[in-house]
Amino acid sequence: MYEENAKIQFDELKNKPDALILGIESSCDETAAAVVRGGREVLSNVIASQIEIHRRFGGVVPEVASRNHTLALPNIIDQALKEAGVTASDLDGVAVTFGAGLIGALLVGVSAAKAYAYAINKPLIAVNHIEAHVSANFIADKTLEPPFCALVASGGHTLLLDIKGYNEFEKLGGTLDDALGEAFDKVARVLSLPYPGGPNVEKLAKEGKPNIKLYKHPKGVRQDLSVSYSGLKTAVVNYVHTLEQRGEPVPVADVCASFTSEAVGLLAKTAAECVRRSGRSLLALAGGVASNGDLRAALKAEGAANGFSVCYPPHVLCTDNAAMVASRAYFTAREGKGLAGLDLNAKSHIAF
Ligand code: KG4
Ligand code: ZN
Repeated sequence: MYEENAKIQFDELKNKPDALILGIESSCDETAAAVVRGGREVLSNVIASQIEIHRRFGGVVPEVASRNHTLALPNIIDQALKEAGVTASDLDGVAVTFGAGLIGALLVGVSAAKAYAYAINKPLIAVNHIEAHVSANFIADKTLEPPFCALVASGGHTLLLDIKGYNEFEKLGGTLDDALGEAFDKVARVLSLPYPGGPNVEKLAKEGKPNIKLYKHPKGVRQDLSVSYSGLKTAVVNYVHTLEQRGEPVPVADVCASFTSEAVGLLAKTAAECVRRSGRSLLALAGGVASNGDLRAALKAEGAANGFSVCYPPHVLCTDNAAMVASRAYFTAREGKGLAGLDLNAKSHIAF
């Protein structure tokens, strides 16, 4: 009965440009809920960060993240509705990130969304976390439409995509091993900088000089538009350990600047080649690392030199949030995609 009714309501979303969607996000250490109208207008965007809880462990502890999502989510959902000035019956659908991410953390959001959608008798819409990150750009720029290229750089992914349509994403390149955010976090850790590493490495990089040759990068952009971060990460770890073993001081700011310059340089060139090959004129950035000023600057320089523009969402929409999840659900539902049943399961990995 619920599923038949949900299907009827879901089909109506195709003709509802002002559809009101509740988004739920719990794939890592942010518990988030948001209400978005028409895929682009954020009525509320509530994020409870667990950073303080995980800081003493130096990184996210999956089991602790799941438990805290369980505790936080009911209140976060209530708050998102209240701040948006809507009630559950005003909603047209409930969207949830079902992957990729930490499996236990995802399961909390998926279970809550299923229960909530069932209780209020509204369709449940399953959202891919990476696609949601890209959708943050539709919120930031109300006139943005495909086609364009996207670089998604987060703690779990580094992907170059051709966004051919709202529901047509083609992978053109990306990392062969570690994600860029993961590399930032590992470098921060070996330098004893607090979690989360990325923003702290960025802060210190501003005070340092990129004068340490950490790693011999393969020259130039690779034919398959791949990048790799495990070698660079290991080079930083070895450099720091060698100095420590010799009892010499570690030039922390210079290491941050040198790592950033290496990490960002080849990625910017690879992204530029991705834009050139696909014939697009815009590169949209997404994911937590899209907040990084050095990455933005390197890509803008490539854009200026090669004739493409670069856009990115504000910081709060780069890192994990639920507004991007609700936005993504709107754009999938508009094309009849994403309806989930009550058997929806979480997925830790989703191939692109
Ligand atoms: O998208 P996100 O919030 O979560 C995932 O889906 O992974 O990205 C988190 C990642 C972390 O690795 C964090 O260190 C990195 O984004 N990050 C940054 C910056 N802000 C967040 N990395 C470099 N510079 C930043 N300013
Ligand atoms: Zn993310």
